[in-house]
Amino acid sequence: MKLSVIYDSRTGNTKQCAEWICEGMNRIEGIEAKAFSTKDVDADFVKASKGIVLGSPSYYALMTAEMRTWLLEEAPKLEFGGKLGGAFATVQFTHGGGDLVIQSLLTNLITIGMLCYSGGGACGDPCIHLGPVGVNHNKEKAYLEDFRDNFEVYGERFARKAAELFG
Ligand SMILES: Cc1cc2nc3c(=O)[nH]c(=O)nc-3n(C[C@H](O)[C@H](O)[C@H](O)COP(=O)(O)O)c2cc1C
Repeated sequence: MKLSVIYDSRTGNTKQCAEWICEGMNRIEGIEAKAFSTKDVDADFVKASKGIVLGSPSYYALMTAEMRTWLLEEAPKLEFGGKLGGAFATVQFTHGGGDLVIQSLLTNLITIGMLCYSGGGACGDPCIHLGPVGVNHNKEKAYLEDFRDNFEVYGERFARKAAELFG
């Protein structure tokens, strides 16, 4: 089963987190997960995917304009309806709006007609509520690498749920 992780990234943080999610997904038997920039999406692979996770940096506590434009103009061509959806974010500040970015991405996915999943509290520790958020080290005493496990575990949980629903 194919899964896609699609991100916008200017300085590489969100791309890195997308790749960590794919690493987690690919640990689950039968899963083939790939990450794509919104600027370079393999449309055939995404259309064949049973689950799609979107990621964006926080720009003033919202998704980037590029991601929003891509969601409005390109995503409708990619057959998202009825599939499993998820979202993640990267931020410079711990309270820099990561959950708001995720919430707005999930709102778009639900509007398109996806089933949205994060694992939530039901999966225990690490407790990932709306989706994983990676804080970078520009302003905080945190390193993106500190959040790697959360992204990988999120990828595993998302892939298990996709396999359960569509396998
Ligand atoms: C125009 C702009 C606005 C930003 N606004 C926020 C913000 O509101 N909150 C925050 O925590 N980080 C903010 N950032 C920082 C980025 O979200 C953060 O560095 C992110 O990890 C960058 O992702 P990327 O490396 O994938 O481009 C902003 C960065 C830019 C360029």
